[in-house]
Amino acid sequence: MKINMNEIDIKNQICDICRKMWQLGWVAANDGNISVKLGDGLFLTTPTGMSKSFITPDKIVKINAKGEVVESADGLKPSSEIKMHLRCYEERGDIGAVLHAHPPAAAGYAVANRALDEYTMVEAIIAIGSVPVAPYATPSTSEVPDAVAPYLHEHDALLLRNHGALTMGADLITAYYRMETLELWAKISLNAHLLGGADEMSRENIDKLCGMREFYGITGRHPGYKKYPEGSS
Ligand code: 13P
Repeated sequence: MKINMNEIDIKNQICDICRKMWQLGWVAANDGNISVKLGDGLFLTTPTGMSKSFITPDKIVKINAKGEVVESADGLKPSSEIKMHLRCYEERGDIGAVLHAHPPAAAGYAVANRALDEYTMVEAIIAIGSVPVAPYATPSTSEVPDAVAPYLHEHDALLLRNHGALTMGADLITAYYRMETLELWAKISLNAHLLGGADEMSRENIDKLCGMREFYGITGRHPGYKKYPEGSS
């Protein structure tokens, strides 16, 4: 649901999501970052090098589309991964928020270089589709945006090889929900594999679920066409 928010509301929402990410154990030390697009070519971002449990609205940094600081308290600098965030906005006009975290199950898939591309669970199929692993890139460098760019046109959720996860959405709540769905699905997949393997669904059932996205008001990019086994349920 699209809610009109002013800048103070957005800063409060960023801080709320930062605390949730920390409480959920998705970030340690200064891990993770969030950005939100404002209406006038400007962006808000979490500052670099700060625990997500400590961030308060006054610490949020305002930048322009080049990543230059427009407003910042106490000399705080934007997230070191801001180039990755800005590339998401450049490539995807429909995106209003970007979230990066290291949720342990999803990051485990990233470390194992294993895509989450089995169609096994209804909510994950409806909400995010398949989730690829973007190639390894050195954090904070332009290698990171270059590594993720080829995936951005078809995916709202990505794994970053040997690093973590990236989600995006029209607004911050949507980007955050996608990270929740990704992490829960990664945990469920791990459990299924411990139990002997995940049971992939039939093309017919996958297509039905993809058709329900409109009914649920789900926007964005999330393919429903990757591999599926012959004769599965
Ligand atoms: P920042 O503190 O610069 O946002 O970096 C955290 C991080 O997770 C790097 O990938």
